[in-house]
Amino acid sequence: MKKDINGKTKIIGVIGKNIENSLSPLIHNQIILKYSLNFRYMPFQITETDLGKAIQGIKGLNIKGVNITFPYKEKVIEFLDEVEESARRIGAVNTIVNNKGILTGYNTDVFGFKKSLQEDGKFAIKKKKTVIFGAGGAARGVIYALLEEGIEEICIFNRTLEKAKKIKQDFSSFFPRSCINAFSLEEENLKDKIKKAHLLVNTTSLGMPPKIDDAPLQNQNLFHSNLLVYDLIYYPAKTLFLRRAERAGAKTINGLPMLVYQGIESFYLWTGFKPEGKEILEIIERSA
Ligand code: ATR
Repeated sequence: MKKDINGKTKIIGVIGKNIENSLSPLIHNQIILKYSLNFRYMPFQITETDLGKAIQGIKGLNIKGVNITFPYKEKVIEFLDEVEESARRIGAVNTIVNNKGILTGYNTDVFGFKKSLQEDGKFAIKKKKTVIFGAGGAARGVIYALLEEGIEEICIFNRTLEKAKKIKQDFSSFFPRSCINAFSLEEENLKDKIKKAHLLVNTTSLGMPPKIDDAPLQNQNLFHSNLLVYDLIYYPAKTLFLRRAERAGAKTINGLPMLVYQGIESFYLWTGFKPEGKEILEIIERSA
């Protein structure tokens, strides 16, 4: 990081609802520091009623770009000028770039999820079966990534069944040969689907503060040792969901590698500069 803020310093940041525990400021400011770049990355915690004004503020203050996090990844789209093709199909944006007053939305979660599964989870996606908890903006990025890489079956379990059905409907048109099933969280099918699955992903906020004693899967006997259990949450580093999975002998991965990889991709969109993922992940693991 250039030591002093000066007249040429550019601002980037993150917009979300509960971002006190976000590691994005640490990740981006560590990159800025390591490579002596004249940027600063700021947290912007806002309420839903202020979302439109906050997005307009990016233009007004000539902020270079922002990440968008829980729970605004879908809602933010209506306030943008343009949405890149895959983000539009996904229906969720986690990165906004301000190019001379034109705000364009991107989704770098897809890249981050794929890279973390492959490099940190050592998981080959093709021909595998998966169970996804949740059907919000984060789930959409995860499901899109899995479909692009040729996953055999996706079973979405969500509290609100309609949202899971909507993902099935939206994505079936882009991936006509895909097998997507939508269930409500209480479904009988859960037991059978987890038994046959290779990958279990939590995309809900259950396990995140203040819900740290909660988990999307209540019956801990359903975990098994052939599963890779993935929680998109990274704070706390081990959610109840992951602790239970580990006890059953399953391999686990939390959301930190994905956060770092998607962040690096966003950073590249704002600055044209792409640092090495592993190197930044190690710095964050040491200082988080
Ligand atoms: P994000 O952009 O991070 O995906 P989101 O779009 O608000 O955020 O989605 C949050 C997800 O967590 C949803 O799947 C939500 O379920 P609903 O679609 O039924 O709202 C899920 N979720 C949040 N709180 C929950 C709870 N208490 N029980 C079960 N699911 C919950």
